[in-house]
Amino acid sequence: MNDAPANAPRLDAYWMPFTANRQFKKAPRLMSSAEGMHYTSFDGRKILDGSAGLWCVNAGHGRREIASAVERQLSTLDFAPSFQMGHPIVFDFAERLAAMAPGGPNAGLDRIFFTGSGSESVDTALKIALAYQRAIGQGTRTRLIGRERGYHGVGFGGVSVGGMVNNRRMFPQLPGVDHLRHTHDLEKNAFVKGVPEHGAELADDLERLVALHGAETIAAVIVEPVAGSTGVLISPKGYLERLRAICDRHGILLIFDEVISGFGRLGTPFATDYYGVIPDIVTTAKGLTNGALPMGAVFCSRKLHDGLVQGPEGAIELFHGYTYSGHPAACAAGLATMDIYDREGLLTRGAELAGHWADAIHSLRDKGPVIDIRTIGLMAGVELSPREGAVGARAYDVFVDCFEHGLLCRYTGDTIALSPPLIVEPGQIDEIVEILGVAIARAH
Ligand SMILES: Cc1ncc(COP(=O)(O)O)c(C=O)c1O
Repeated sequence: MNDAPANAPRLDAYWMPFTANRQFKKAPRLMSSAEGMHYTSFDGRKILDGSAGLWCVNAGHGRREIASAVERQLSTLDFAPSFQMGHPIVFDFAERLAAMAPGGPNAGLDRIFFTGSGSESVDTALKIALAYQRAIGQGTRTRLIGRERGYHGVGFGGVSVGGMVNNRRMFPQLPGVDHLRHTHDLEKNAFVKGVPEHGAELADDLERLVALHGAETIAAVIVEPVAGSTGVLISPKGYLERLRAICDRHGILLIFDEVISGFGRLGTPFATDYYGVIPDIVTTAKGLTNGALPMGAVFCSRKLHDGLVQGPEGAIELFHGYTYSGHPAACAAGLATMDIYDREGLLTRGAELAGHWADAIHSLRDKGPVIDIRTIGLMAGVELSPREGAVGARAYDVFVDCFEHGLLCRYTGDTIALSPPLIVEPGQIDEIVEILGVAIARAH
């Protein structure tokens, strides 16, 4: 902070993730507290949360029920070993999630593996897919398929199947990974509300990869039904159905990464429900605990679970897991979060607000540099034309301008991404659009 107040923290030691550290530390943006739809910044300003923190605070901030549940749990049982030992709340939470699993009871995605984050959920899902193929005698299937412009976290598995060049170029990747083409098509699908019409045939790219590599080498395909971190890219009509059919035809497992789209973001509990296409595995995190404590959950089909959980009864079936898998305090936070979602109908509230949300955000269409707007549920991407030779600079200016004028949003490349807590009121949606519109108009 240039004119830092006396109580400002020292900034040197903390190496910030996915941040331009030196730029940030010259003009830091610090949050001190949060309640409901608002943060309070370090300099005492109210900031409307247009991004649910980092796509995770779906029930809004400062939920006392979650804090009390965590406090109670920590003072009852703070930790128990996760390997070869259990504790009641982890079983309770798994049962609770199983009862609301993506796709409903008939989908059978009701075997739950707990992790500590979205990245861990993704790597867990990839490993389960590989292990399952091997267990059913398909051990040649070691290849994983991701998609261009996908984001699946930062583990080596997630980076390998991910499709964002800056996350990949510095690091070696898993061998034998390939990528489908992305589905973003500005020419055919610009300024669409909801699911775009064009692009189902892009799923046929999987047939191309099958023809190139041989189906017997491919274990699984992972996609985000709606990609968030790469700029809110919405799978087009018919695309996921087609992907499912091709996977079925060739014995390939399908993984939906719902770390962002899970827990009500699209106006249904999961994107799996929104699209009505059932994958073999669904990865989640973020909204699982309302962002209050780190945790992820991987929903696996019974087929996969039962295929792997066999052999001699005394033998460990899957050599995988984390110290903090199913941490008692995170389970307490998760159960309290599900209570709030149920009581307040938050997992479907996005459907009620989606019309107002879409109309409000699409009113920005004629602001100077806006080249596309994409909305679904309570999620939006507002894409700006990049400044010559400075990709991302315009969106960064908009992001900073918004923060200075009382709105937290996200930016990725030149897309402004919005995903407010699901408790947002229509008037607050209008406020988001007002502040963002002025910032975009200023960002020439
Ligand atoms: C689709 C998706 N997968 C995985 C992740 C990684 O989650 P985490 O940052 O909790 O590791 C993210 C994070 O934004 C995500 O959007």
